Amino acid sequence: MKRPLQIAVDGPAGSGKGTAASMLGKVLKLPVLDTGLLYRFVAWRAMESRVDLNNTDAFLSFVSLALKTMSWRTEGVFFDGKDCTSLLRGEDVGAVASKVASMPAVREALLQMQQTLAIQGCVMDGRDIGTVVLPEAQVKFFLTASLRERGRRRWLQLTPLAQRKQSLEQMIKEVALRDQRDSERTLAPLKQAEDAIVIDSTTLRQDEVVDRMLRVLKRRDLIELDEYR
Ligand code: DC
Repeated sequence: MKRPLQIAVDGPAGSGKGTAASMLGKVLKLPVLDTGLLYRFVAWRAMESRVDLNNTDAFLSFVSLALKTMSWRTEGVFFDGKDCTSLLRGEDVGAVASKVASMPAVREALLQMQQTLAIQGCVMDGRDIGTVVLPEAQVKFFLTASLRERGRRRWLQLTPLAQRKQSLEQMIKEVALRDQRDSERTLAPLKQAEDAIVIDSTTLRQDEVVDRMLRVLKRRDLIELDEYR
């Protein structure tokens, strides 16, 4: 029997992986799982509760309690039954999420949750999906784009949330800092899996990125391309 299709989409902030994953999931009728939301949720709860991230033991008990209040679905993250996804999208939460994500115990607590939901087949996006979470995924994509373009995208994305507190140049610096933190941590750093297909989206439209992904799936006989035209 065929294993349900798992597609890993990794890449740095602003690489377009979230949009590509959700467009691809829609086309293929597969659940889309955004793993960044899990780290963002932990960060958001810690910020709201003013927990000291440096007090490791206290922080870890806080995390295990916080995770009991959360449910993670393809639609987003629910806190005490309410959808809190839009509260997690800001760059301030992203920056704390990046710190929280460097803690091995936090990653361990979230790993099984991700692997369990993926069993049904999915498009899953994050930083370590192809390398750690779903090393057996049938297809792995690694999206990139120039730092400037990624900063610009993040800056524009945050406009509707009225969270554009800083200039474009500041945003580019923040994205660079997040890249550095995500790539330099010892456990499960942002890294391209050896068997990942790299797509540089700097000059591509979102539909062109998805088109390239579909062609790869077709080349590997995982889909009939004609079905999706
Ligand atoms: O993709 P994002 O911006 O929503 O992710 C927020 C932070 O969470 C990111 O800076 C690093 C961390 N993260 C991670 O370490 N591993 C993942 N699989 C997803 C996100």
